[in-house]
Amino acid sequence: MDAILVTGGAGFVGLNVTEALLARGEHVVVFGQEAALPDPAPALFARLPGRLTVIQGDVTDAATLREVFRAQRIRGVLPFAAITAGPEREARDAQRILDVNLKGVLATLEAARDAGTVRRVVLPSSAAVYGESAYAHPVLDEATTPPVPMSLYGVTKYAVERAGLRLAGLWGLDAVAARIGATFGPWERDTGLRDTLSLFLGIAEAARRGETAVIPPAPLPSYDWVYVRDLAAGLLALLDAEAPPHRVVNLASGMDWAPHYGACLDAFAAAFPGFAWRHAGAGETPTIRWNESRSRGVMAVARAADFGWRPRFGPVEAAADHAAWLKA
Ligand SMILES: NC(=O)c1ccc[n+]([C@@H]2O[C@H](COP(=O)([O-])OP(=O)(O)OC[C@H]3O[C@@H](n4cnc5c(N)ncnc54)[C@H](O)[C@@H]3O)[C@@H](O)[C@H]2O)c1
Repeated sequence: MDAILVTGGAGFVGLNVTEALLARGEHVVVFGQEAALPDPAPALFARLPGRLTVIQGDVTDAATLREVFRAQRIRGVLPFAAITAGPEREARDAQRILDVNLKGVLATLEAARDAGTVRRVVLPSSAAVYGESAYAHPVLDEATTPPVPMSLYGVTKYAVERAGLRLAGLWGLDAVAARIGATFGPWERDTGLRDTLSLFLGIAEAARRGETAVIPPAPLPSYDWVYVRDLAAGLLALLDAEAPPHRVVNLASGMDWAPHYGACLDAFAAAFPGFAWRHAGAGETPTIRWNESRSRGVMAVARAADFGWRPRFGPVEAAADHAAWLKA
């Protein structure tokens, strides 16, 4: 059976994509820095119908990547290994961020080109490509909203999108770039390579410990989340599309979650009786670090709908599903 290669497949998004692929019986090759998937993924994934191969390596190492394509017949590639750098890491490790996020993806594409078996590449772009535009436009549209990435991470994601699509065209590869919205849910953990963990991870940890989460004072800024199970389904839709109607696609919920945070937190409280939440009082420091202090526009979802995908989980359903997963 031809395999799907997921680089960074032991990371947060990668594990969700891997799980969804295994659930439908695929052979998944996970390539990344980890020698094995984190617990409890090995035991849970072993019960799924698909086949899993885990290969340890670095995406900046072209020879190892070539060997992966020699040893396995790969028909789809999600080159998702990345460093999601915050400002301190940007200042400290700029070259490494570019090496992994841009050159690592291009090295994976080169190996895919040389293999000659790959039918689809899903490039990992991000909401971060909108950058400054996210604060100036109420709707972030793939065609009309100017990408103005601010962080080095956002710059590398825009570069991956443009360079990846360009080279895929020149090399006879079929690629689609997914502008992935901020996501949360099962399998999120600190890999040491992502400096902006979701606020829901902080809430999940507080819920597990039976603590009271103190969130910033109202009103909370507008923010567009996509539940990671929905995101994984969207990425599979891009992987599978026979004739992609678009080459750059937002994968997001397309709605503002700020009015729903209270109901989401209540869903965690219903699942974890020791857990409670409240807003911080004047001068009090919240215990949950919020991902954003300014309101952002929401990502347009019409292009994603053209791939036959739309999110299944509303905010409360997503929080309840996440809480149930944490308890299982
Ligand atoms: N999490 C989000 O909200 C979000 C939003 C937009 C885009 N994305 C994109 O999704 C992809 C996955 O991100 P994530 O949130 O799962 O991050 P993560 O940190 O959880 O996972 C990243 C994975 O990449 C691996 N990796 C990093 N450098 C590597 C290297 N040099 N060689 C091999 N493996 C390496 C890590 O070991 C890890 O398994 C990234 O491309 C990211 O830009 C994520």
